[in-house]
Amino acid sequence: MTPEHGPVGLTELPIGIFDSGMGGLTVLRALRERLPQERWLYLGDTARLPYGTKGPETVARYAVQAASHLVARGIKMLVIACNTASAVAMPRLSKEFTSLPVIGVVEAGAMAAINASKSGHIAVLATESTVRGGTYKRAIQSQRGDAQVFSQACSLFVALAEEGWIKGPLVEAVVREYLQPMLEEKKRQGLDCLVLGCTHFPLLKDTIAHVAGPGVVLVDSSETVARAVEKFLHQSNLARTSGSGDAHFLATDSAERFARIGSLFLGEPVNLQDVELVNL
Ligand code: DGL
Repeated sequence: MTPEHGPVGLTELPIGIFDSGMGGLTVLRALRERLPQERWLYLGDTARLPYGTKGPETVARYAVQAASHLVARGIKMLVIACNTASAVAMPRLSKEFTSLPVIGVVEAGAMAAINASKSGHIAVLATESTVRGGTYKRAIQSQRGDAQVFSQACSLFVALAEEGWIKGPLVEAVVREYLQPMLEEKKRQGLDCLVLGCTHFPLLKDTIAHVAGPGVVLVDSSETVARAVEKFLHQSNLARTSGSGDAHFLATDSAERFARIGSLFLGEPVNLQDVELVNL
């Protein structure tokens, strides 16, 4: 270990990042922008997506399998890009991988919402599992005790984003249907912040913002996660300080589909030769 650069060799290892599918590429996009010298190993469990409609035991088991796979390949830290896995499996992951630094998106999203909301009336849009577990609500209220948190499961948003349907009349009709109770709340309670508590929802951001109307700030946790990862790497002397970064992708189903649709989430082309099919 050198004082400035942390353990020799460790800084060169990639950062593991996983999601139930391709949605976590929205988080990877923010991470790469902030940390261009880092190397990334992204795992999308596309064969078992969605996690958001599954029970907590199943999600925790899948999350441990995904993390174990990344750890076996050699990573210096782990980012849980999946909101459902962060919400449901974080305690289990911390218990299983005691010496691995793990950062999840839920704490980051909660923090971003607290900073963005003036009224303290916050809506969280997420998957069914994330909403059921109440993790976002607890995370927000642990930082701001008087916050009123309104949660809404929007399961169909995942399918729309996976299909690449991110705008148009059909998408707007679905968004309007899901946001109706939140809009009532906005009228009654002065709700002013909406958390996109699922990796897929940033793709529908324009439509969601349009339906939510003026006076509602949309919060996407990816920027906050990227800042948290950067801070951790510097504090622990694990940042890679030379060379240009890269990304390698692992998918549990259809590398071709991952490359094709993944480009939409990542905001740049995903080359098929960089996508490896794996079995967890
Ligand atoms: N990645 C999941 C999340 O952020 C959404 C997709 C799924 O349901 O698996 O909650």
